[in-house]
Amino acid sequence: MKCDMYISHLECPQCTNRYEGGKRIQVCECGSPLLVRYDLKRVGAILDKQALSARPASLWRYRELLPLRDEAHIVSLGEGMTPLVRARQLGRRFGFTNLFIKDEGIIPTGTFKARGAAVGVSCAREVGVDTLAMPTNGNAGGAWAAYCAAAGIRCVIVMPQDAPAINTKEIAITGADLFLVDGLISDAGRIVGRAVAQHGWFDASTLKEPYRIEGKKTMGLEIAEQMGWRVPDVIIYPTGGGVGIIGIFKAIRELQDLGWIGAKMPRLVAVQASGCAPIVKAYEARAHTSEFWEGAATCAFGITVPKALGDFLVLEAVYASRGCAVAVTDTAILDAQAQIAALEGNFVCPEGAATFAAARKLLAQGWIQPEEEVVLLNTGTGLKYPQTVQAEAPLLAPGDDLPVDGCVKRF
Ligand SMILES: Cc1ncc(COP(=O)(O)O)c(C=O)c1O
Ligand SMILES: [Zn+2]
Repeated sequence: MKCDMYISHLECPQCTNRYEGGKRIQVCECGSPLLVRYDLKRVGAILDKQALSARPASLWRYRELLPLRDEAHIVSLGEGMTPLVRARQLGRRFGFTNLFIKDEGIIPTGTFKARGAAVGVSCAREVGVDTLAMPTNGNAGGAWAAYCAAAGIRCVIVMPQDAPAINTKEIAITGADLFLVDGLISDAGRIVGRAVAQHGWFDASTLKEPYRIEGKKTMGLEIAEQMGWRVPDVIIYPTGGGVGIIGIFKAIRELQDLGWIGAKMPRLVAVQASGCAPIVKAYEARAHTSEFWEGAATCAFGITVPKALGDFLVLEAVYASRGCAVAVTDTAILDAQAQIAALEGNFVCPEGAATFAAARKLLAQGWIQPEEEVVLLNTGTGLKYPQTVQAEAPLLAPGDDLPVDGCVKRF
């Protein structure tokens, strides 16, 4: 089925240049990322929320709000419609009445990066890309390698050598060309930039093509749908390149323009680790762009992004939603990870744990009220980060008996 008629154009948020949708394109002439715009009047005329809710539980249920022209090009591993779980015990213990976790830990490849990859790779296939290249902190590389394998597209990935070991393995087994760099994602990005200029490959770096963000935006569409076509008070997001928070903001604006939800905008919180917090620093100075963060380091590897191309869009989403940006220490992140696991049974990734550390900080500051509806974005499974947990178990001889009290320290 064709569905391109709903894209109206691609728009530059910096210089307002317009481009035709559904084409092989990277960034605006001025260097800014491009955003996909839809003809929402026409979407609203053919689609209503009841009809949509009857569709299969996949992110492709929002196809009229996605940039693919022909559904035949969809590359799917079964992504989308992740659970929005009420975190009752965690909330009760720490003073939140209405705490929720949007859990991306169960999506293909184990992180929300699958959403951007599903839509990004499907669109790349549609516009005839045969080789794409990207820098990654690991999880995006794992996701894009997997979707490229399914699409039959060659995928070249450059990743910091300090990225989690599992990312090396998942990228390698899916057959991508993987290179490690003795440096950060910004160094990997420069290597990819030179390669795409030399070889004419498609540049799939964060926000250097307009379609990945459309996949990530489906997190915002799902949250609104799962809450009965309304939004919570606060959404807390672990921010690296910022595509997820920009996408959630865009999704809610589109639903408002469709008239499917009211005018309320959730306060969007960008969380960063105190070892790499350029957006937080910019927010504290009420600036509209960030500066390169020197010496970036945190256990939440996915959010180690010293300077994001879309920083101005992240900050716009934060300011326009009356949100904020907040930094949390690695110690607070690892404590939050243990608290969520012990009280909710969910082993979340450190990036996801950072959102709960931020929620606690904002509650203590009075920025969040105890009864407000707060959605934490757990962007991935903790199973990808075994090094974040130190576990020791007593070794028994076959003839030993178990102590009646057990041995494991309870939270
Ligand atoms: C688990 C995880 N969470 C969050 C992020 C940050 O993503 P974004 O680019 O949307 O800020 C990443 C990026 O690598 C990640 O891997
Ligand atoms: Zn422009």
